[in-house]
Amino acid sequence: MSDSIKIEQRSLFDSLDGLRVPKGQASLFPIVEEQAADKAASPAGPPLLEPSRENEWAGIDDLDELKRRILPCRACVLRSGAKGVVFGEGNPRAGIMFIGEGPGQTEDETGRPFVGRAGQLLDRALRFIGFSREDVFIANIVKCRPPNNRLPLPPEVEACLPHLKAQMRIIKPRVVVLLGALSSQTLINPAIRVTKDRGKWFTREGVEYLVTYHPAAVLRDEANKMKDFIGDMRSLREKWDKIQSGR
Ligand code: URA
Repeated sequence: MSDSIKIEQRSLFDSLDGLRVPKGQASLFPIVEEQAADKAASPAGPPLLEPSRENEWAGIDDLDELKRRILPCRACVLRSGAKGVVFGEGNPRAGIMFIGEGPGQTEDETGRPFVGRAGQLLDRALRFIGFSREDVFIANIVKCRPPNNRLPLPPEVEACLPHLKAQMRIIKPRVVVLLGALSSQTLINPAIRVTKDRGKWFTREGVEYLVTYHPAAVLRDEANKMKDFIGDMRSLREKWDKIQSGR
């Protein structure tokens, strides 16, 4: 993905449930909106094509069924510029989820998350700590490719987040690895800054969240980021081993 403006972006999604923009507030996302709009001549804050589906998936407990229901999604404008919905993939019983930002070109073309260059780095990092894709589930904050790989806009994140919430409710991960600023700020705290907070663990409702770099950011600055990224993967392995041994 083209992430040059993405990594340090702000989001004000406090938690999975704190999504609404307070009434009367002009914009909670001025930086995101300005930069994204500059980058991709698409209007800031596109209207939803359908109402947000906060509770639509409440009764669905099967991941395949959820996928079948989400694939035709048209809840925001991203779907009109994408080939299709990239639902996510991996082992739903693994207990570990990785959450990125949104599909890039290769992901859009293949329908699979993290299969481009950033994905290849993620695969290598997983192998380094003795895991493979079959040991984790990989998903994204938004499931359709933003045009020109721009940062997803807040209404697009809002429209898509119920899908991720439903995935997490079904998968019930013990550990979630947040790849980059958007997923960290959306799922933990808008004040997170990846450069400052990477490597930190956060506990939310019994789930352990690790903030780390987005692999695309690592690829852009290997000299400064690779060592820390691999260190974070080691930390994941240690945390997982502790959880498994009940320590
Ligand atoms: N970057 C992401 O955030 N997600 C993908 O699936 C691919 C690249």
